[in-house]
Amino acid sequence: MTNSPTPRAKTAPFSRRRRRLIRYLAGGGLGAIALGLVRPETAASREPDLEYLCSMFPQNSRCLDYLPGFQALDEAEEPIAVNTFLPTTTPGEPVPVRGLPDAETSYLVIQTGPAIATYGIRPICPHRGCTVEWQGDQNRFICPCHGSQFDPEGRVVEGPADRPLPLMTVVERQNQIRLVERAPSVDPR
Ligand code: FES
Repeated sequence: MTNSPTPRAKTAPFSRRRRRLIRYLAGGGLGAIALGLVRPETAASREPDLEYLCSMFPQNSRCLDYLPGFQALDEAEEPIAVNTFLPTTTPGEPVPVRGLPDAETSYLVIQTGPAIATYGIRPICPHRGCTVEWQGDQNRFICPCHGSQFDPEGRVVEGPADRPLPLMTVVERQNQIRLVERAPSVDPR
């Protein structure tokens, strides 16, 4: 009768590999993970969280001194002060502003009050991406490429576009208007 290898002898190399893996995880691997978890929080690492929190929930108590996004500028590239700007606005008439890093004009939505809506219009046509223009005499945004039309809040009035104009988030803070590229978490239209 021949002696066949015992099951333990067959699995010995695998067991060694497993032990080495366990030692690695218990030492360097888990150590590195732990270091990552307990890494001291720096101002830079906190910044993205505050940016998100304070653009989505500007009334949060951590955000009283935080200015999210970019300051809105008028068409002459001057900072807009809310207290002098609001009396010059008309509810329902979008106001062109600059300030986002892409340097494109965006639009504030003016509501009854007058008040500045917490969302603004990015004039990018959802059909093929042309820049739409506000035509005050027609009370619409009109796309110069294929003629899509949108109401003052960016809803489609006439195609071929089949989606509304994209939004940005707008925050009023310390007499400034702050423009945040991210759209609000809920589209209010
Ligand atoms: S790109 Fe605006 S309608 Fe086509």
